[in-house]
Amino acid sequence: MRLADKRILLGVSGGIAAYKSAELVRRLKDQGAEVRVVMTRSAKEFITPLTLQAVSGHPVADSLLDPAAEAGMGHIELAKWADLVLIAPASANLMARMAAGMADELLTTLCLATPAPVALAPAMNQQMYRNAATQANLETLASRGIQLWGPDSGSQACGDIGPGRMLDPLELVEHCCQQLASEPLLAGVRLLLTAGPTREALDPVRYISNHSSGKMGYAIARAAREAGAEVTLVSGPVALATPPGVTRVDVESAEQMHQAVMSRVHECDLFIGCAAVADYRPARVAEQKIKKTGDNDQMVLTLVKNPDIIAAVGALPDKPYTVGFAAETVDVEQYALDKLARKRLDMIAANDVSRAGQGFNADDNALTVFWHGGQAPLPLADKLTLARHLIALIARHYRP
Ligand code: PMT
Repeated sequence: MRLADKRILLGVSGGIAAYKSAELVRRLKDQGAEVRVVMTRSAKEFITPLTLQAVSGHPVADSLLDPAAEAGMGHIELAKWADLVLIAPASANLMARMAAGMADELLTTLCLATPAPVALAPAMNQQMYRNAATQANLETLASRGIQLWGPDSGSQACGDIGPGRMLDPLELVEHCCQQLASEPLLAGVRLLLTAGPTREALDPVRYISNHSSGKMGYAIARAAREAGAEVTLVSGPVALATPPGVTRVDVESAEQMHQAVMSRVHECDLFIGCAAVADYRPARVAEQKIKKTGDNDQMVLTLVKNPDIIAAVGALPDKPYTVGFAAETVDVEQYALDKLARKRLDMIAANDVSRAGQGFNADDNALTVFWHGGQAPLPLADKLTLARHLIALIARHYRP
């Protein structure tokens, strides 16, 4: 009874997956949740209110302007009543209306009026899901903190194959349990995390580095701490304040980061490599500043490979649950999956850093997370919101 005494408002919008909503109500009630159902007009074309009333044990609400309901549990009371609003299925049309902030029927009004977290289980034809308008709406909703659970990929009722299937009711119940769990998601988990760039010295005044600001890694440190983890952050040189409650270890070079990680990795349960570690360093660091010579227009640098920190963690016999990042500009999924396998990771967050407004040094980011046998898109959002979604996803898969 992981949802005992939890109050879930289930919104059902119009889509063929609405037939699964009755099953979802039953599975939520199995876990002890009290469930009330709100339907959109078009949802009633797919499943009758009577069915959902029978399985939930409460009348289904569907009208914004219903004098009888306003005297009983009207829309504001319903919005305040919920611990969680879950909309399953969430159609493309409903998400478009929510993204526009409309209050044109009871369900969209409740989403505006509720102080509770709102989660959507998108369900639609794969082409509709891929459409730029739908993707833009998803990004808008995610950036406002609305959670996106799914969709799944596979064969669809219309005969197409691709992303857009509503998550299985049991998976949605698991999401609700994680969301409403009274114990923080990562309570007591020891997290070791790398963030920021490394600097590879050429001489006393120059170095090779990259554009990592540390914002993504620091947001993950903050989100993990909020989720109850004990966080040690091994940080390259960045201009950011340490998140509250986080232990920070400052390093400069990849070799120093490698040393700092390997000396602490045996005391952690979870490792996340978000740092942009330089793959190569100058073979020789000049003792004095390298001088420009008048007769030579070129300078040749010899670089040697740095240790691959996350691969070293992945190779440990008693390795922690290991999550990597893959910053890529082309063939993002292919390279990420290659790194997942080659570095023996449990999960990898693919980061398309070719897109403007996300990735290196930006305030926002978007990721596609892969693990063995699954994947989940985390659409464009500010880095803290994204980090909270990533931590929730890791917590669902992490096994000590
Ligand atoms: O810091 P921000 O400005 O907020 O930007 C965030 C980010 C773009 C840096 C971040 O989201 C990100 O993608 N980090 C990974 C950057 C990277 O170096 O990716 P990679 O594909 O080169 O490396 C793959 C994985 O191996 C990463 O987990 C990396 O930390 C790790 N690695 C790489 C090389 C190396 N020598 N040692 C490593 O541990």
